[in-house]
Amino acid sequence: MKRQFRVLPLLALTLLAGCKSQSPTTTSGSGVRQGLGVYEYRDEDPSVQPFFSDRQGVIGRNGMVASAHPEASQVGLNILKAGGNAVDAAVAVQFALAVVYPGAGNIGGGGFMVYRGNDGKAYTLDYREKAPGRATQDMYLDSLGNVRPGLSISGHLASGVPGSVDGMAEAHKRFGKLSWAQVLQPAIDLAAKGFALTERDALGLNRIKGDLTTINPGKTYFLKNTNPADTLKWQKGEIMVQADLARTLQRIQSQGRAGFYEGETARLLAEEMKRGNGLITEDDLKDYHSVWRDPIQATYKNYNVITMPPTSSGGVALVQLMRFTEPYPLRKWGWNRDSTVQVMVEAERRVYADRAKFLGDPDFVKVPSDTLMNVDYLKSRWTDFSFAKATDSKNVRGGTIPGYESLETTHFSVVDKAGNAVSITTTLNGGYGSRVVVGGAGFFMNNEMDDFSVKPGVPNMFGLIGNQANAIAPQKRMLSSMTPTILEKDGKLFMVVGTPGGSTIITSVYQTILNVIEHGMSMQQAVNALKFHHQWLPDKTIFENGAFSDATVQNLQNRGYMLEKLTNTLGRMDCVLIRPDGSYEGASDPRADNTARGY
Ligand code: GLY
Repeated sequence: MKRQFRVLPLLALTLLAGCKSQSPTTTSGSGVRQGLGVYEYRDEDPSVQPFFSDRQGVIGRNGMVASAHPEASQVGLNILKAGGNAVDAAVAVQFALAVVYPGAGNIGGGGFMVYRGNDGKAYTLDYREKAPGRATQDMYLDSLGNVRPGLSISGHLASGVPGSVDGMAEAHKRFGKLSWAQVLQPAIDLAAKGFALTERDALGLNRIKGDLTTINPGKTYFLKNTNPADTLKWQKGEIMVQADLARTLQRIQSQGRAGFYEGETARLLAEEMKRGNGLITEDDLKDYHSVWRDPIQATYKNYNVITMPPTSSGGVALVQLMRFTEPYPLRKWGWNRDSTVQVMVEAERRVYADRAKFLGDPDFVKVPSDTLMNVDYLKSRWTDFSFAKATDSKNVRGGTIPGYESLETTHFSVVDKAGNAVSITTTLNGGYGSRVVVGGAGFFMNNEMDDFSVKPGVPNMFGLIGNQANAIAPQKRMLSSMTPTILEKDGKLFMVVGTPGGSTIITSVYQTILNVIEHGMSMQQAVNALKFHHQWLPDKTIFENGAFSDATVQNLQNRGYMLEKLTNTLGRMDCVLIRPDGSYEGASDPRADNTARGY
């Protein structure tokens, strides 16, 4: 069976679209939806449905925000329209998500920001959580050295010291234009006056009701009814008010970072930790500071990839993946054709083995980022590659370098009128984090401690294996896969990209970038496109239903690849592409409530 993407010339498209040309087909106050129709997919094999949906991108000329929740994207758009820049909008979106998207939006977690100013200068801010001062390497092991299941995942002991509020204060202090009070106000309004739950919001909260009541005895946060025994469930459209969270946000608004890391909020958080035998103290909070780090910048053909250095593994891994792939004619082979998939999977196998061996907090361990991304090093990792047969992950170890050794997160992308761009991925780790809600303050705490290697060789909740480089130590940051990224093309801003998805973040970002720059999709098509993932161990390639043709599945299996078709989805990308005419295409993932708003 033959299947192919055909890149159509713009003129042909225009004709195909019934002379709709590049002009908007519909407009609304929040942006313009347009049938870009850059590609036609022709497939005689019904087993391939390359796109999750036919959602179309939102086009704007003056600004674009894509995030996981319509209310948060609207907040960002309003800030841009009020004269705020991309950083103002991003700060407002981070706080708004903490209200309307409590499963991953947060003030009790952390994240990474990649920022590129319209002068071409790039920065990254690491506001990842840190292990509390009293944390120890063996804190999740019993006396026999076995992992005590669940302790790093739910409850008070699972939390690292949150970084999000400090991160936003730092970003705003350095690059913000509007007042701090102004960018905080929309989140305060959403918390104090409430917002209408989407169906997904309601389902998520109903799903965790059991944990909410057992982990937070006596509290009624996020419950539909003040009587926890009540079986009433949240419904779509109901208004959820968060009065304590509104007061917490007001303290942050009036006192800046001190409104969280000192005074009332810090006291409430430390008390909460004492109540549940958690480790975070008021001193830990006072001592927390985010860090500006030099971005990773790497060329790929005529693109420059600007991405997050360690404490994320994402940037190093993304560059490794792209460099492994660069010599191969992916476009000629075609999207998700046998050879394309093989090269990408084999690259992923080797990259995740390196991740496990070498990556950790650069303030604690020497991470050989430059060597890992070096082309000669990568060539040495590729010598056992063969198109004839899958490499066995058992035979793949992290490389040798002389002298060395939920899926629930959320991403948003913002571009303002001047062309400043922000790419932020932020997280509580698992959905609703540790599920501990800080009494009196009304926000979820993260369960980010699980992103440490709690014991060498034992997989975390994403199945990722780690080693000494990512062992727990007081004040150390746990390794992340979050990969907020910005691409330049020929020296100009081109793409802002990122996603949640735990260990699958890196491979979803990788595929989305390749979908645009190798396969020539529009931003929205690249987001809609079905995805696959391999992470060295376990040695299997998971894929969204429809991502591979039956023939490709058969061919790959014949070459020794273990494949698993998912019943759920991969990635929730929120991205912005700068189109050749200078307009912005906002692309939000149709797999959830993600929304792009532009003007
Ligand atoms: N908690 C997911 C990550 O940071 O990779």
